[in-house]
Amino acid sequence: MNQFTLDQSLCTRCNLCVRDCPSFIITLDENRMPTISPDKEQFCLKCQHCMAICPTGAISVLGKKPADSRPLSDIPRPSFEQMDLFVRGRRSIRNYKNENVDKALIDKLLKSLAHVPTGCNAQELTFNVIDDKDVMHKFSDKLVDALIKASEEGKITHSLLVQIGGLPRKAIEKMVFRTAPHALIVSAPQDAPCPREDIALSLAYFELLAQSAGLGTVWWGFLRLTLGIVPEVKPLLGIPDDHEYYAMLFGYPAIEFARTAQKEEVAQYRRVII
Ligand SMILES: Cc1cc2nc3c(=O)[nH]c(=O)nc-3n(C[C@H](O)[C@H](O)[C@H](O)COP(=O)(O)O)c2cc1C
Repeated sequence: MNQFTLDQSLCTRCNLCVRDCPSFIITLDENRMPTISPDKEQFCLKCQHCMAICPTGAISVLGKKPADSRPLSDIPRPSFEQMDLFVRGRRSIRNYKNENVDKALIDKLLKSLAHVPTGCNAQELTFNVIDDKDVMHKFSDKLVDALIKASEEGKITHSLLVQIGGLPRKAIEKMVFRTAPHALIVSAPQDAPCPREDIALSLAYFELLAQSAGLGTVWWGFLRLTLGIVPEVKPLLGIPDDHEYYAMLFGYPAIEFARTAQKEEVAQYRRVII
């Protein structure tokens, strides 16, 4: 049941809800009022577009009332110039303060991630967070121990990790953990409509949100790489076995960048002409 309800006294019959419904399940009844017939409810994506688009707040859906949404009309949009400079100035941070991030801030960031798009609006992401630097240290100890053992047993052949054999323990730690006190591991069931895309998107949004809040972040490909070599450490993170996952390190940055990098602007840009 998607609980689509209409306050007829507010509906202006503007049809916006009908036009914007991605599943085309909203139709007009004999009085030209929007409705969803029971046999169509199963196709509802639960995206709430009908409620969000209604200019007069006539539609409630899924038990959500328009009065509980935040109005968008008076929220200033960041300008393109601000967003452009922000995207250009985003950098991977590999030096962090040995300090916990305020849990209330982490909570706010994760709440915002609920709004990141997911394929078919599946919203099946799970967020595992290491929000305590002591927990991070314990995890780091176990992972580095396992990596050193694997290296001694000749089990590390990946080109990015093979150098571990010649490094002191502190350097292995720094290479894998980049001194970050925290990590966000996002996972999704393998049978979700778009698990990898959903995970990568949520981490990309997290990175921008976190950096806008003054945090540093760096994608944590080393987690997947290293856990591929020492899978016995993975259960510590609580990632379900049937989930895809990816991760990001974060914390208060101990460094500050002074200028943008100069990446090749759009390395290959081809116009499609048909
Ligand atoms: C999928 C992915 C995985 C990454 N994994 C790591 C990692 O494990 N450790 C690390 O230090 N940087 C990692 N990075 C960061 C890249 O090395 C970095 O984005 C690149 O060097 C460009 O630097 P910038 O992010 O400051 O522009 C990763 C980036 C991506 C997109």
